[in-house]
Amino acid sequence: MIIAVDGPTASGKGTIAKALAHHFGLPHLDTGLLYRAVGRQCFLDGGNPDDPVDALAACTFPEGLLDDPELRSEASGGLASRVSVHPAVRQALYERQHAFAVQPDGAVLDGRDIGTVIAPEAEVKLFVVASVEARAQRRFLEMQAHGRDVTLEAITADLAARDERDRGRKDAPLIAAADAIEIDTSELKREEAIAAAIAAVDALRVD
Ligand code: DC
Repeated sequence: MIIAVDGPTASGKGTIAKALAHHFGLPHLDTGLLYRAVGRQCFLDGGNPDDPVDALAACTFPEGLLDDPELRSEASGGLASRVSVHPAVRQALYERQHAFAVQPDGAVLDGRDIGTVIAPEAEVKLFVVASVEARAQRRFLEMQAHGRDVTLEAITADLAARDERDRGRKDAPLIAAADAIEIDTSELKREEAIAAAIAAVDALRVD
């Protein structure tokens, strides 16, 4: 069983994907982390994330970079969103993601284009959404807990800019697959969102 979990930043898709992987005993890939690594590597190289050549060169980042806590920062998220616009970057990361999706035991992948591009054959496609306010508030509390010096206003502006870039890009924009089930987590607690996702998978899966 392949489970595709797509949605915007801080919608809860990562939490849901991890919980589904745990519940159904499937391996999980956070594909945003790959784009974050490319963005971070481009920055470390002194490259320009908006330049397709610089961004493509950063796709050969060392594996160890995936463990760098700096990848979780808002700055890395912004860089990831910028490098992910380039078709060559998406192409370079495609094979790794697709291979993960089609492994024999099945898999859970979360990202922006899993249900539409990486694994359109997925048996289960979830599209996780939440209001900008709810997402900004969550991200704010998360950043505060990590001792980062941020304001709610700055986070809201950053999320809105990223949404626009991710939805507006020509190649593999953030969009729900026609057969995706939408889960709105704006009013849901963590455990409620997870329960809703498990119920959606149970209703769909073909063993
Ligand atoms: O899910 P995230 O916040 O870690 O993703 C960071 C950025 O990476 C996001 O703004 C757009 C890009 N991304 C993408 O284009 N396609 C994916 N499958 C995952 C992430």
